Amino acid sequence: MRQPLIAGNWKMHKTAAEGQALAQAIRQGLQTDQVEVVLCPPFTALSAVHAVLHGSSIRLGAQNMHWEDAGAFTGEISPVMLKEWCRYVILGHSERRQHFHEDDEMIRRKVAAALRHGLTPILCVGETLAQREAGETGAVVAAQTRRALEGLTPEQAMGVVIAYEPVWAIGTGRAATGADAEEVIRRWIRGTLAEHFGVEVAQRVRVLYGGSVTPENIAEFVCRPSIDGALVGGASLRAESFLGIIHETA
Ligand code: G3P
Repeated sequence: MRQPLIAGNWKMHKTAAEGQALAQAIRQGLQTDQVEVVLCPPFTALSAVHAVLHGSSIRLGAQNMHWEDAGAFTGEISPVMLKEWCRYVILGHSERRQHFHEDDEMIRRKVAAALRHGLTPILCVGETLAQREAGETGAVVAAQTRRALEGLTPEQAMGVVIAYEPVWAIGTGRAATGADAEEVIRRWIRGTLAEHFGVEVAQRVRVLYGGSVTPENIAEFVCRPSIDGALVGGASLRAESFLGIIHETA
């Protein structure tokens, strides 16, 4: 019922020319239509990657945005600007929360603004190592999920993709176990969705795992009933490894 989704978050990597070459290699090497594929380059490469993906089934996403449509916000990008190029936008990534002090209220506004403009948010939630060690994983993930989606109708909530990215697993080579990610997603993400929006929403929303995903470990996650794919960082920067992850998912 839920189509698998593999998204690549390029973070602050790739010039427009490099992004174009990577997108081209991914487009050429893609051998399945079972998996929805999304590339999230930096803003400066969106236009170039968009041109490469034209006519293919691969979708484009951004990595962040402001919640206002326009205004005096130097250095920011609005949903109105993004929707010219993108279908998806990553929101609330832990690197934004940590280094740029984004809080739940800012993320809530961004999610609502994205939906208002027809962009699909990929909402990131996840606990830090200290929170995990303090036994707070469930409470943190449930609260981040609830606060980001506050005020949405069930129909709107259904249009969100959620990525569970435990902060300690990001870029560390230390992925969560499949069983652990499944438990957090089933109990604390889908459970929170069921509580606030109903069982149908909880069953329909796609939820991804993110954190040190590779072609070698992706099967461990996508074989789980609550996990619909992955948000991939480092391994999305090379066509071979990103395609490996996609083809293992198909
Ligand atoms: O958004 C993807 C991400 O934070 C995971 O990064 O490098 O651990 O796959 P990585």
